[in-house]
Amino acid sequence: MKIESFQEYQSAYQKSVQDPASFWSDVADNFLWINRWNKVLEWDFNGPDIKWFEGGTLNITDNCLDRHLITQPDDIAYIFEPNDPEKEHVTLTYKVLHERVCRTANILKRNGVKKGDRVCIYMPMVPELTIALLACARIGAVHSVIFGGFSARSIADRINDALCKFVITADGGFRGDKQIPLKEVIDDALMGCPTVEKVMVLTHTRIPVSMLKGRDVWWEDEAKLVDSYCPSEEMNAEDPLFILYTSGSTGKPKGIVHTCGGYMVYAGYTFQNVFNYRKGEVFFCTADIGWITGHTYITYGPLLQGATTVIFEGVPTYPTPSRFWDIVERHKVNILYTAPTAIRSLMSFGTDPVKGKDLSSIRVLGSVGEPINEEAWHWFDQNIGGGNAPIVDTWWQTETGGILISPLAGITPTKPGYATLPLPGIQPVLMDEAGNEIEGNGVTGNLCIKFPWPGMLRTTYGDHERFKSTYFSAYPGYYFTGDGCLRDEDGYYRITGRVDDVINVSGHRIGTAEVENAINLHAGVVESAVVGYPHPVKGQGIYAYVIFPRIDKDAQLTRLDILQTVSRYIGAIAKPDKIVFVPGLPKTRSGKIMRRILRKIAEGDISNLGDTSTLLDPTVVQEIIKAAEAK
Ligand code: WT7
Repeated sequence: MKIESFQEYQSAYQKSVQDPASFWSDVADNFLWINRWNKVLEWDFNGPDIKWFEGGTLNITDNCLDRHLITQPDDIAYIFEPNDPEKEHVTLTYKVLHERVCRTANILKRNGVKKGDRVCIYMPMVPELTIALLACARIGAVHSVIFGGFSARSIADRINDALCKFVITADGGFRGDKQIPLKEVIDDALMGCPTVEKVMVLTHTRIPVSMLKGRDVWWEDEAKLVDSYCPSEEMNAEDPLFILYTSGSTGKPKGIVHTCGGYMVYAGYTFQNVFNYRKGEVFFCTADIGWITGHTYITYGPLLQGATTVIFEGVPTYPTPSRFWDIVERHKVNILYTAPTAIRSLMSFGTDPVKGKDLSSIRVLGSVGEPINEEAWHWFDQNIGGGNAPIVDTWWQTETGGILISPLAGITPTKPGYATLPLPGIQPVLMDEAGNEIEGNGVTGNLCIKFPWPGMLRTTYGDHERFKSTYFSAYPGYYFTGDGCLRDEDGYYRITGRVDDVINVSGHRIGTAEVENAINLHAGVVESAVVGYPHPVKGQGIYAYVIFPRIDKDAQLTRLDILQTVSRYIGAIAKPDKIVFVPGLPKTRSGKIMRRILRKIAEGDISNLGDTSTLLDPTVVQEIIKAAEAK
């Protein structure tokens, strides 16, 4: 299953296209199944209806944990690096991890959680977070992790969409010099969540919390009451494993649903091959488990391969901008997987923070989440990789479950800014405006995938129609990614960014409509329009045009009020970087906002605004430009 040369990659790719069922069946045979599948694949992108390994039964935690108990029980699964570098780091062997997952699974059972129930997880980046995910998987409960930076209201929306019954949280979390009062936020959220019966709380920061009688229990107390072994639940390959919410071009986040069998196969396969993981190596992915990267490449992928993974609670710049390099040195990290925004932010401190650090353990570097600019690529290559660690620029999405387009480390020749070639099993195509496939090289178009892969989403939770309209309607018969793409003369792919109303801020996906809805909740706001604009560190920044007719305080104070509103309703990650007050928005006669114009103005490029004659009131454009320049 492991590819070791470019030639092997090419033949695996060819086989995967010619005979996908036999290709994936071979890959799936490397995993532990309770019952083998009857049929590898059944699919219809028009339904849409996608099924992998039907008839197969399994439990992903048998593959992540039990299987390694025989061969490598004392190998380290996780190294926990706490926010405060002065605190002792903690290691968990596979044996210990297995026991803690089993205990937690028994706690869930004891508190009434059953197979198929949805469990919301809102936690800091501590080992108990992965334990929580795995405990759900152990008993067949469906986890829905919510990133620790989301607001009470965002949590409530997600809990109510999935009708979660149980919540796992902590008293609080540490992030640099800040403490996040997670339990307090959960308490606020749960005032509007009638389906939640119980809340389990981990002691972590030891800030005071209120524990509601009959609802809230302490994790540590419960752990004493249960057995250290819990049998794994037999799951059908197509049973849901988890839901993860992500933003789209409409206001409401969608619950992306991944299933047990296909996701397992894809997570394990891509982890091993993209990073060329070798037994015994230390892998460090800097993402948060609140995002898909942390699901697939901190939790499931590495465990499926028996890897050793660093879990880091803090931020790259605390207590100093050397923090990542200290971690690499201390734990002899071999593979470092991070985001361009982190690289750019660390670059801004120059090379001093890297000086004197022993980074010689690094063998592979990875990038994910947004296009990586050439300057950041070279800085990463030279200063962190010492010019000889391959960089894998991995393109994928919450929906895809795992990496789709990426070099294989040390195998695929890389090119700065390029995700290079599709992994085996992935058939990317570029589409033109008329909906036809663009053949040949040296072309650009909208990126679609024309054949299913095991790790793809199966639906959007509770709304299959939305699944269809979001991904399979723009180009009937194809999965539409929402990204624009270039295929160069060598057939290499370069992702150019979203072509829909989604912006990518520091590698986090944010829907412009969501931010607009939040801004519009402010009492003084009549209407708003949000677009992305190039930002030197974040990749894209959030630019908001706001109609606010009666600014009775000074404008700056009103801006702060609006930021507060957005923080309250979505979370600090969605706060606009720029707010410009405008008298009107450029609308067509049918009432549609011409975002193209707003994007140009936000970029500071007003030389070529294109045709504005179809606007209801073309003069508004000049007024917006004036307001933007005055800001
Ligand atoms: C969007 C998906 C799955 C990783 C974390 C983000 C952008 C992701 C790359 C890359 C250029 C990238 C795309 C994609 N993106 N990786 N290597 N190069 N763009 O997951 O939040 O679901 O966002 O991130 O625009 O559609 P996500």
